[in-house]
Amino acid sequence: MDAHKLKLDFPILQNQPLIYLDTAASSLTPQCVIDTMNEYYTEYPVNVHRGVYQISYKATEKYTQARQTIADFINATFEETVFTRGASSALNLIATSYGLSHVQKDDEIIVSELEHHSHILPWQQVAKKTGAKLIYVPLNKEGRITVENFKRVLTDRTKVVALTYISNVMGYETPLQEIIPLAHQKGAIVSVDAAQAAPHKTIDVKKLNCDFLAFSGHKMFGPTGIGVLYGKQKLLDSIEPIEYGGDMNDNVELFDAVWKDTPYKFETGTPPIAEAIGLAEAVRYLQKLKPEAILAHEQKLKELAVKALLKLDGVTVYNPTSETGIINFNLDDVHPHDAVSFFDEDHIAMRAGHHCAQLIIKWLKVPATLRASFYAYNTEEDVKTFTDAVKKARDFFTSVGF
Ligand SMILES: Cc1ncc(COP(=O)(O)O)c(C=O)c1O
Repeated sequence: MDAHKLKLDFPILQNQPLIYLDTAASSLTPQCVIDTMNEYYTEYPVNVHRGVYQISYKATEKYTQARQTIADFINATFEETVFTRGASSALNLIATSYGLSHVQKDDEIIVSELEHHSHILPWQQVAKKTGAKLIYVPLNKEGRITVENFKRVLTDRTKVVALTYISNVMGYETPLQEIIPLAHQKGAIVSVDAAQAAPHKTIDVKKLNCDFLAFSGHKMFGPTGIGVLYGKQKLLDSIEPIEYGGDMNDNVELFDAVWKDTPYKFETGTPPIAEAIGLAEAVRYLQKLKPEAILAHEQKLKELAVKALLKLDGVTVYNPTSETGIINFNLDDVHPHDAVSFFDEDHIAMRAGHHCAQLIIKWLKVPATLRASFYAYNTEEDVKTFTDAVKKARDFFTSVGF
């Protein structure tokens, strides 16, 4: 992968000095995705499934093709691929629709302290409303979910297993290939948060055999405002929508209505048309680069950076063994928000805080952390600028006695 050449695809990297290390929050957008969305707004900027005129046919055709491209990307069918506002909406839909109708008092829902808030809060609500119990997989010393620890909490009462594929704070991959069959043996369904996996891994929902899976467009070169919910056909057929209105129904009577089939019954109102078409282009771009090649590139950069950081006194790295491009760290005795403002002066964009995953930050027993996340467009020069800036920040804050 030639990251220097790749940078040319991203207008934001041409317009200003920027070392972008915040892809785990949102990735940058390549020109081809911007062009594809512009094309929609300039050539056929109209609604889908409604108009009986040429440009509306074109919008419907492009939107329909986009769904098929995204379904193929994860080896799902068209019907199993539901558009949502983002990963959060998809994960809420699973908990609210499937959870509230299938989970009962004293059932158990297995989750972890590595979850993003959008994969823990919806299940907390299900537990509160149904009287079910949330059971946390104990993390190992490094903060990982292991198969052994998962086996310790899996019981005949487990009805749902809701786990992240890749942690957005520690960058660890959950051993889902082994966990999912164990959950199925107990009759539980598995909901997978793939928001941090889809940008870096080829996802095959059939091979993984998960029941539900969710991801966002904006972390994988795509636009904001769109995410994807995958569900096995049988499950999607058996659950109810959580929003009602136009386009999701077949027949409306005075006191009742009949829904369309999946995926449409979950998608009321005007859908994210430009976003779906933009996300399909992002998928093509990602597939051309190959997720595995991106991951290998990120890992190389992460390892270089971690090696440099571990040589510095006064710097703590919490996830040196992570298998993805995320570094979670702190400058000892410096608040991450002070550090991140210091990095901003060198045009380094990075995240500080709890990363919408307070449970793992509490598990680490710190108030907040710094997170640097690498992607396809980062270079070894970016790593050097970043690690030099960490050293400079460490020296500065030590000298002023923070
Ligand atoms: C692991 C994980 N899950 C879910 C989300 C939520 O995604 P979205 O903001 O697209 O709803 C994020 C976003 O940071 C994430 O990292």
